[in-house]
Amino acid sequence: MLEIKNVSKIYSSGLAKVIALDDVSLRVNKGDFIAIMGPSGSGKTTLLNIIGGLEQSSSGEVILDGQRMDNLDENALVSIRRGKLAYVFQAYHLIPSLTALENVLLPLTFCGVRDGDEKASDVLEKVGLKERAQHKPGELSGGEQQRVAIARALVTDPLFILADEPTGNMDQKTGREILDLFDTLHKEGHTIIMITHNPEIAEHASGIVVLQDGQIVNRLNKKGN
Ligand SMILES: Nc1ncnc2c1ncn2[C@@H]1O[C@H](COP(=O)(O)OP(=O)(O)O)[C@@H](O)[C@H]1O
Ligand SMILES: [Mg+2]
Repeated sequence: MLEIKNVSKIYSSGLAKVIALDDVSLRVNKGDFIAIMGPSGSGKTTLLNIIGGLEQSSSGEVILDGQRMDNLDENALVSIRRGKLAYVFQAYHLIPSLTALENVLLPLTFCGVRDGDEKASDVLEKVGLKERAQHKPGELSGGEQQRVAIARALVTDPLFILADEPTGNMDQKTGREILDLFDTLHKEGHTIIMITHNPEIAEHASGIVVLQDGQIVNRLNKKGN
């Protein structure tokens, strides 16, 4: 349902050229939980951003749900991403002046949904934060803020949840709790693509892709797809 075919990405600034991705191909099926690993600078974020339509590839194809994405213009991309892809970032990116509930509501508002309160409360409850709905991000711990960000990702029922080092800012215990939450979402049928350095991901993920210097140097498929 998501296919990356021979994707390369070259950044050029002045005379300097950086090959961030070098002929990467990847297939992600519905229900997969794919972990992207590899050293800093190996191209992980670039790959996720190309999957998410936040960046354009230099060459190759990105096919989402049978539709080519790599040759779409900005407007078309935005409307496709809105319904299908949701992001969770290392730094949460919550809006500090809004409550947890209001942060979770925001994507629904952008989608033109008016009465999203119940749905937003439901997903907050799902991530274990029902009691914190009226708190602002500054009043929540890092782990709790990330739960709000995950609830915000879930609220639109996306096809894919894309997470860029979601436990990168956390101590080990909190990181494990967040991984457990992703594990639960995976078991419930969500499709997740996550960048992580956490070796414990190997127990949770259905597939692991290891990048180095912009190339996939190792793949592990636990489901044989
Ligand atoms: N906007 C950019 N302009 C120039 N080079 C970039 C840009 N974004 C990333 N890069 C380079 O591309 C390579 C891969 O970066 P990135 O995908 O962020 O790696 P990772 O997420 O694995 O740490 C790095 O060498 C990085 O410096
Ligand atoms: Mg990165």
